[in-house]
Amino acid sequence: MSTPVESSTPKPVRLDVQRELERPEARADPFAAYARLRRLGPVLHWRSWFTESLVITRYEDVMNVLRDPRIANDRRNVADGGKGPLERWWMPSIMKLFLGSMVMKDPPDHRRLRNLVQKAFTPAMVERLNGRVEQITADLLDAAANKPVLDLIADLALPLPLTVISEMLGVPEPERMQFRKLLGQVLDPGAMNLAGFVFNYANMVRLNRFLRRLVQLRREQPGDDLVTALVHADEGGDRLSEDELISMVFLLLFAGHETTVNLIGNGVLALLQHPDQLQLLRDRPELIDTAIEELLRFTNPVGTVSPRFAREDLEIAGVRIPRGSTLTLLLASANLDETAFAAADRLDITRNPNRHVAFGFGAHYCLGAPLARVEARIAIPALLQRFPGLRLAVPADKIRWRASMGLRGLESLPLSVAAAG
Ligand code: HEM
Repeated sequence: MSTPVESSTPKPVRLDVQRELERPEARADPFAAYARLRRLGPVLHWRSWFTESLVITRYEDVMNVLRDPRIANDRRNVADGGKGPLERWWMPSIMKLFLGSMVMKDPPDHRRLRNLVQKAFTPAMVERLNGRVEQITADLLDAAANKPVLDLIADLALPLPLTVISEMLGVPEPERMQFRKLLGQVLDPGAMNLAGFVFNYANMVRLNRFLRRLVQLRREQPGDDLVTALVHADEGGDRLSEDELISMVFLLLFAGHETTVNLIGNGVLALLQHPDQLQLLRDRPELIDTAIEELLRFTNPVGTVSPRFAREDLEIAGVRIPRGSTLTLLLASANLDETAFAAADRLDITRNPNRHVAFGFGAHYCLGAPLARVEARIAIPALLQRFPGLRLAVPADKIRWRASMGLRGLESLPLSVAAAG
């Protein structure tokens, strides 16, 4: 992708932002890393062997970009008819299904797809899941209860969203184990990068086939589930084509999985590292809603959103942004910006209002936010209640983070469940 940066004043500082943020020290302590980026400037010029982009570091500018109609999600909509990755490189059709999802579209395509899926993915539908989420959480905690050390990621944070989404989609009971196994392989967070996608190609093909069979089944035998709702979603006579439907389910699976794993994993770790806040939540469980919002802001399960493109010449924080530029929005940096949040580097589970941008903002605001909130607000208190002596089983410097600029999450989180003796 080429982003011409003309000589304008002030000139953005040039930096390999990804390299900077994927250093182990930056993973472990993102506050200092993001603060440094914000100090370097509101707009940075990120150039590496595979990308060139202007990086927006501060809260106000990130919000402005997210609501600016002059900014596109679909590169083909930039004024000079830019080419997106779908046209630029040869790509297997299955990857196109994923990359052609609604996150990368603008109105009217985006509005059309979003309206159709929103009808199926209602807060009421998610609310109905409360009981099931409680049951699945309890079963997972039962299974982990006999271990002296549990791995929060493998034992709870990963299987919970995986099981919930399998059931929501309406996968028939006898096939759920197979589906969960397949999904686990495709969604293994270790494989959530381009190389991972390529290696995972065979599993994606199998997942594609599985989903197409599921769609066929739900056309013939409708149920009370998301695939049935998507098959029948109708907006003034308009329906999702089969490819659009599969693309939508891929998006729900990819956008909703590791993000939720990270919220639960990072959230529990943050509480354990802030014993005063953990104790406050134990003493006042009614604080769970503001606590979840603060854990979203403070731990940033999602670091950046999909790239944006300037449709015309514009200016951000006094910096000239030439038409066609690729923009990278650092949500995580925005959420830790001290000009937007008082004592931004302090975890405060009573923070209210909390206008974090962890779920994005504007037209592409996270569709799955109600689901992610339900899962976290059930799983985290259930874990704390079940194990009053819960504590880290490894020293802080042995905690292993995954290296990815887009997502911030743990590889594993070993926890001792017995009270300290
Ligand atoms: C969009 C974050 C969970 C489905 C987004 C965006 C963010 C985000 C930042 C905006 C993307 C952009 O503007 O380019 C998160 C976080 C989650 C989470 C932090 C968990 C803690 C989920 C779940 C689902 C989901 C559970 C569904 C199962 C989606 C979809 C979009 C989206 C479909 C695209 C919306 C659109 O383009 O209109 N999410 N998400 N997300 N999310 Fe989530």
